[in-house]
Amino acid sequence: MNDRLALPVGTTLDRFIMRKQEDFPFATGELSQLLRDIALAAKIVNREINRAGLLDVTGTYGQQNVQGEEQQKLDVIANIRFIRALRNGGEVCAIISEEEDEVIHTGNTKGSYIVAMDPLDGSSNIDVNVSIGTIFSIYRRTSDAGCNGTLEDCLQEGTRQVAAGYIVYGSSTMLVYTTGHGVNGFTYEPSLGEFFLSHPNITTPKTGTIYSCNEGGVNGFPESIKNYLSYCKDNNYSARYIGSLVADFHRNLLKGGIYIYPSTAKAPNGKLRLMYECNSLAYIVEQAGGKATDGIRRIMEIEPTELHQRCPLIIGSADMVDKVEEFMKAEVAV
Ligand code: AHG
Ligand code: MN
Ligand code: MN
Repeated sequence: MNDRLALPVGTTLDRFIMRKQEDFPFATGELSQLLRDIALAAKIVNREINRAGLLDVTGTYGQQNVQGEEQQKLDVIANIRFIRALRNGGEVCAIISEEEDEVIHTGNTKGSYIVAMDPLDGSSNIDVNVSIGTIFSIYRRTSDAGCNGTLEDCLQEGTRQVAAGYIVYGSSTMLVYTTGHGVNGFTYEPSLGEFFLSHPNITTPKTGTIYSCNEGGVNGFPESIKNYLSYCKDNNYSARYIGSLVADFHRNLLKGGIYIYPSTAKAPNGKLRLMYECNSLAYIVEQAGGKATDGIRRIMEIEPTELHQRCPLIIGSADMVDKVEEFMKAEVAV
């Protein structure tokens, strides 16, 4: 028989989510449905991205987001698509998004969940056909159901995430997520419109030889990070930096490596956002055996005080993150 015909049918994301739910006898199915809503929005955004050069969706939108960053048309489109899918689903009472100033109340006051998201990560790469992504975190509300989600519901520590994931729109489109029982990756098969389990139980190598950092800004970096970058060069590590956090993170997760966005002279808290980018990837990397820190604190233990809070991010293979922390402690000791 033809080898291809002999291959078993893969596990779809839907079936995988369903099977996982069966592991928890008292689960209501709400979280499962919420994950399906996210996958549906991802398919829609994927479609828009694939046609980006053909439709009028590239370029700037003409407005800035609350962080003073120029919004791209696809930032706005992705934001709308995800919000709509989450609103329709009914499981989410409130959403916080990198592209929105304030908490979005979905009107689903009975919904038990909060979603934090970076609807499109890597905006500077949209127009040049380089990988981009979506990042999300899911929390359970702490306020009583029956009214709108509160700011406190939205500002929970990363340790309280019940699920987190990302979609990378790359050479293929992948959805990677965790619910706290390991990390699994699914590849999108566009002709069938389904995500299939392609990377079961992802574990990240304990160490690696790839470092990802925008070294153009090195003059403004702390001495410890400068010293670590010299250490990488002394050890002949490879530099790989696309400028889309999701894509840089995904590569390092699979191959072993470290991603660094440190505090800089201009931006003492770094650039990346705790609620939309750092917590989610920190949860995933830890579930895969890696680490995430701001240099002093475990990312997931940072207490959020505002929606658009930024923090330095050092994330990846455990031994490499430990090494950076050694350099940072040495700097403090001097
Ligand atoms: P976003 O497009 O969601 O604003 O995120 C951009 C982030 C991140 O994806 C990337 O790693 C980083 O900005 C790149 O910043 P530099 O251009 O300063 O390297
Ligand atoms: Mn981003
Ligand atoms: Mn973004």
